[in-house]
Amino acid sequence: MSKKVLVATEKPFASEAVGKIKDFCVKAGYECIMLEKYADHADLVAAVKTVDALIVRSDKVTADVIENADNLKIVVRAGAGFDNLDLAAASAKGVVCMNTPGQNSNAVAELAIGMMVYLARNQFQPKAGTELMGKKVGIHAYGNVGRHVARIARGFNMEVFAFDPYVTDDALISEGITPVHSADELYSSCDYISLHLPKTEKTLKFVNRDLLRKMPKGAALINTARKEVVCQEGLKLVLGERADLKYASDIAPDNAAELIELFPAQVFFTPKKMGAQTQEANLNAGVAAISQIVKYLEEGDNTFQVNK
Ligand code: 3PG
Repeated sequence: MSKKVLVATEKPFASEAVGKIKDFCVKAGYECIMLEKYADHADLVAAVKTVDALIVRSDKVTADVIENADNLKIVVRAGAGFDNLDLAAASAKGVVCMNTPGQNSNAVAELAIGMMVYLARNQFQPKAGTELMGKKVGIHAYGNVGRHVARIARGFNMEVFAFDPYVTDDALISEGITPVHSADELYSSCDYISLHLPKTEKTLKFVNRDLLRKMPKGAALINTARKEVVCQEGLKLVLGERADLKYASDIAPDNAAELIELFPAQVFFTPKKMGAQTQEANLNAGVAAISQIVKYLEEGDNTFQVNK
């Protein structure tokens, strides 16, 4: 019996990416099952019942999904952040979890820079704005996305700084970036902060009121990471205290409507998370996901496993 791969994407991949995933399955002799734009988590729980492998994006692969999947061997999150996967539940059932690091990073970085321009130009209102050239951008967590943000920012002639305790000064300097040794230092010295912290227990509400208050006059925070790494209450207070500060996020906070009402010129949220929503990123991440599945099921290659 052929192996079954379920592609469960509440926010679907571009059609070219879906086509390539299907082609890959045909070549491997696998059956590809699509569950796109589903309205209810229960649809995902039901759809995994007999599948061997699962590809998702930000879809929540919770314990009930894992438990209902009788044949599941591997879950691949086609993307970077895997905070949507219940790793403990997967490990308990011997299910391998992977991500596809780097495959959608440029798309997210381009959106982060686009948001900087959008804020600098007063949300495209015909009022004199500012330029990015010569401004300081601070990259908070220098991973795949941060690296692309730095590359593009240098093209704008911005000064690039980064804070990441897991990256050495030498590595940053060799890429033309000025290392900074604390979040306080980064936030207090940069005109733009581009946030790329993963969501973990340690990073929840990391960007709090104290940190936000340290930002210089006219500064802006750009969040293309996760809403939970910014303290929503602290953000609201600081925006109220500081009419010069701006916040743009690709992941609207729970109090988005209130913030837009109170501070329309200071905040911007995309209607739906779309940093990674480009044809190129979908293709890269989708093909990486199915290729990792075939390599794991056929050869036991667990290179990108995140629940080791
Ligand atoms: C990621 O972690 O890869 C990004 O946040 C993209 O998420 P998405 O696949 O839901 O767009």
